[in-house]
Amino acid sequence: MTTLKKFKTIKLLESSLSILGFVLITVCIVFGFFYLDYRSVVTGDGFGFSKRTDRFKWLKFGGYAGKAEVSGGKRFDFLSEDGDGCDVFEGDWVWDEKYPLDHLYTKWRWQPKDCNLPRFNGKRMLENLRDKRVVFVGDSIGRNQWESLLCMLSSSVTSSTSNDSIYEVNGNPITKHKGFLVFKFRDYNCTLEYYRAPFLVLQSRPPPNSRPEIRTTLKLDQMDWTSTRWRDSDVLVLNTGHWWNNEKTIRGGCYFQEGSQVKMELKVETAYRKALETVISWINSEVNQTKTQVFFRTYSPVHKTTNNNHLYRGRNLRAGRNCHLETLPNLVSSPLQQSSNWPQYHTVIDVISNRSKSLPIAATKVMNILNTTIMSSMRKDGHPSLYYLSPKPSPVAAHRQDCSHWCLPGVPDAWNEILYALVLKQAAGFGKNSSSRVHSPVLQS
Ligand SMILES: *[C@@H]1O[C@H](CO)[C@@H](O)[C@H](O)[C@H]1NC(C)=O
Ligand SMILES: *[C@@H]1O[C@H](CO)[C@@H](O)[C@H](O)[C@H]1NC(C)=O
Ligand SMILES: *[C@@H]1O[C@H](CO)[C@@H](O)[C@H](O)[C@H]1NC(C)=O
Ligand SMILES: *[C@@H]1O[C@H](CO)[C@@H](O)[C@H](O)[C@H]1NC(C)=O
Ligand SMILES: *[C@@H]1O[C@H](CO)[C@@H](O)[C@H](O)[C@H]1NC(C)=O
Ligand SMILES: *[C@@H]1O[C@H](CO)[C@@H](O)[C@H](O)[C@H]1NC(C)=O
Repeated sequence: MTTLKKFKTIKLLESSLSILGFVLITVCIVFGFFYLDYRSVVTGDGFGFSKRTDRFKWLKFGGYAGKAEVSGGKRFDFLSEDGDGCDVFEGDWVWDEKYPLDHLYTKWRWQPKDCNLPRFNGKRMLENLRDKRVVFVGDSIGRNQWESLLCMLSSSVTSSTSNDSIYEVNGNPITKHKGFLVFKFRDYNCTLEYYRAPFLVLQSRPPPNSRPEIRTTLKLDQMDWTSTRWRDSDVLVLNTGHWWNNEKTIRGGCYFQEGSQVKMELKVETAYRKALETVISWINSEVNQTKTQVFFRTYSPVHKTTNNNHLYRGRNLRAGRNCHLETLPNLVSSPLQQSSNWPQYHTVIDVISNRSKSLPIAATKVMNILNTTIMSSMRKDGHPSLYYLSPKPSPVAAHRQDCSHWCLPGVPDAWNEILYALVLKQAAGFGKNSSSRVHSPVLQS
């Protein structure tokens, strides 16, 4: 629990930069309101201003009034029947004073464009998860999200050090070790588990008599060996992306294998595609979709300065460091333009849409897409830079920035708030007729 507490606390540096950031926000909000007012008075609606007003939309204050006014109608609660089919991944970050945490960057709440998300309630989530297993599988960003959910759920459970209401079943601490961690919420008989499998497919020794430069292979047609352990979970959240680059594969002597053949010439992107196909087929054939609700979280954007198609050619997670001392979400640049920076995102979307076209089973029927890439790309302020909790409170040096992982509390909490909404939605049974532009839960008949 001490480790948990460490994750829960984040120190805000009262540096001049954050004060400057606050002043900026204030100025922007005031300006935003004037701008919007001016527009509605002088030009009315639909006068070619929509692009520019989009830019300021995020400045709107949140508020959980239930049905807030939105252009052209009401915003329904996602959990109500009217919320069916709402794309919860399209929206804005809004400044929400009602958020319980006190630091600047933790006040941003994700607001879908067409509906309201339910406020996260850890007790309600745990009630829904009674006697169930929630499993996250993937790379360290997957662990980032798992830790976030662990914190969010723990905060609603009364615990004391003498009372083992939450514990790791093998007594392991949360570290960056390989393998897995299983936390149990005793009173709910619920486990929250993380399995490290950054590729999702199987990495193993090369076939006998392989060339010496082949140290390991990724078997693109087989799932990670731990998959039998997660197959029967109740909620399964998968992700993979950050390791599909040259540096983490070919340059380290890890080549791609199909059947018994090592494909020396296979490009990383093609291999990634094939691995994703394997994952989808596995879900389709091995996972009991009546029991298991499967989610696939899309690529978590890395904030870098340059166009990053070179991610596929190499460079590691920390390359770029375009999050140094950032204190505000994106205000001006269009995140969609930047999305060309994340080829892994597009690969996933491509594979899914291709798969959805081909019969008999659409990819989106077997898994829910946590389409979090674009929303996260707006949060260059969400990385550990300024808010890093170090023994000596000072921002991380520019050359040591980690612009891939996220602060907790922070952006992964927003992903989990959406996960929460989707889990509750399914429990309520409303998702069944969602016209679902892919995003909301699509159930099996
Ligand atoms: C993901 O979200 C973005 C931004 O809302 C949207 O443009 C894109 O079509 C979505 N893709 C999928 C597969 O849901
Ligand atoms: C706890 O949950 C597991 C499933 O995760 C179930 O098999 C087991 O029977 C439950 N135990 C109790 C005491 O209800
Ligand atoms: C310890 O856990 C039990 C069982 O859930 C609970 O009834 C009790 O109040 C807890 N005690 C403390 C000191 O938290
Ligand atoms: C799938 O899961 C459901 C619900 O737990 C169960 O009733 C059913 O028997 C399972 N099907 C198979 C083939 O295991
Ligand atoms: C699309 O799917 C088909 C059949 O699943 C496959 O043969 C084809 O290679 C895929 N195309 C791409 C671009 O992934
Ligand atoms: C699902 O929704 C569509 C459009 O909202 C409606 O036409 C259809 O009758 C609904 N189907 C069921 C089974 O409710």
